Amino acid sequence: MNVLGIETSCDETGIAIYNDQKGIVVNDVYSQVDLHRDYGGVVPELASRDHIRRTLPMIHTALTKAELSPDQLNSIAYTAGPGLIGALLVGASVAKSLAFAWQIPALGIHHMEGHMLAARLADEAPEYPFVALLVSGGHTQLMACERAHEYELLGESQDDAAGEAFDKVAKMLDLPYPGGPAIAELAASGDKNRFDFPRPMTNKPGLNFSFSGLKTFTMNTVNSFKRPEAQDRADIAAAFQEAVVDTIRIKCERALTATGLNTLVMAGGVSANLELRARLEQMAAKKGYRIYYPPHHLCTDNGAMIAYAGYLRQKAGGAEGLAIDVRPRWPMTELNV
Ligand code: KG4
Ligand code: ZN
Repeated sequence: MNVLGIETSCDETGIAIYNDQKGIVVNDVYSQVDLHRDYGGVVPELASRDHIRRTLPMIHTALTKAELSPDQLNSIAYTAGPGLIGALLVGASVAKSLAFAWQIPALGIHHMEGHMLAARLADEAPEYPFVALLVSGGHTQLMACERAHEYELLGESQDDAAGEAFDKVAKMLDLPYPGGPAIAELAASGDKNRFDFPRPMTNKPGLNFSFSGLKTFTMNTVNSFKRPEAQDRADIAAAFQEAVVDTIRIKCERALTATGLNTLVMAGGVSANLELRARLEQMAAKKGYRIYYPPHHLCTDNGAMIAYAGYLRQKAGGAEGLAIDVRPRWPMTELNV
């Protein structure tokens, strides 16, 4: 069985092919970072225009690389939401049109479920039930997952997502977009103990997050210098990253205790952060929990996670009509069967 995956929810065009015997056979990602860099963030209209230019040629290339003809595809999975509406519409339109022409099903996939399922593409795959930590540019959520497509929201960010906070703090430190990897790199040469940053919402019970106060605290710290030197910036980056990582660790530990589950799956762009991984691994080792995450290159947006999610959905009998419909906002709990 071969499933074509199309991801266009934000600023990466991801095209992949999943084969149920061989796994991911092609996974091509075109990143638009250069296009958006001068604006310091994603410009939605530019994102859509670029997706529309790239999608069909990338699909052609993927089929050629996989040595497959369209009649050897069993379905087309595309990201139906959440994300930027124009960008989503590109992937949805292409997917539905090709599926109509090729007489195969098109399957709309939830982007965050795709991120989460990517953890099953690692050498060691998690088994249900587990707690999922979903941390991306648009989401910071803790979910309890009893079984496939059964989600309970345990907590989420009340304001900025963790990745968004990384991106905004990067701007304050004159680092390029996207901010996460840039902060992580700068933080590596910083002293995380020079400044004492807050761990928001950790002194009250509950599993929600808030990163906007931490963002302001960081801004104030930057502004406390007339002109921060390189070492000051590195120390601020390290303190900020440490505060985010520690806050997430505290909430994950709480979520595991509250649910009585002993498996944690982390996914989404921020799960590429090595400090976060190390800290959660440490916590898991101490408490006897198991922790899983996607292979590093499948943490940020890609088509492979969508192709794989589509394969699972098709196997479960998923099907949909021809109308092109996307969900810029889409709570994952609405996927519950
Ligand atoms: O999942 P993703 O690729 O796109 C969304 O669905 O949003 O996540 C992108 C986010 C960006 O905010 C980016 O700064 C962050 O993930 N990110 C990181 C790292 N790599 C990407 N944040 C912290 N550390 C990283 N190494
Ligand atoms: Zn994503």
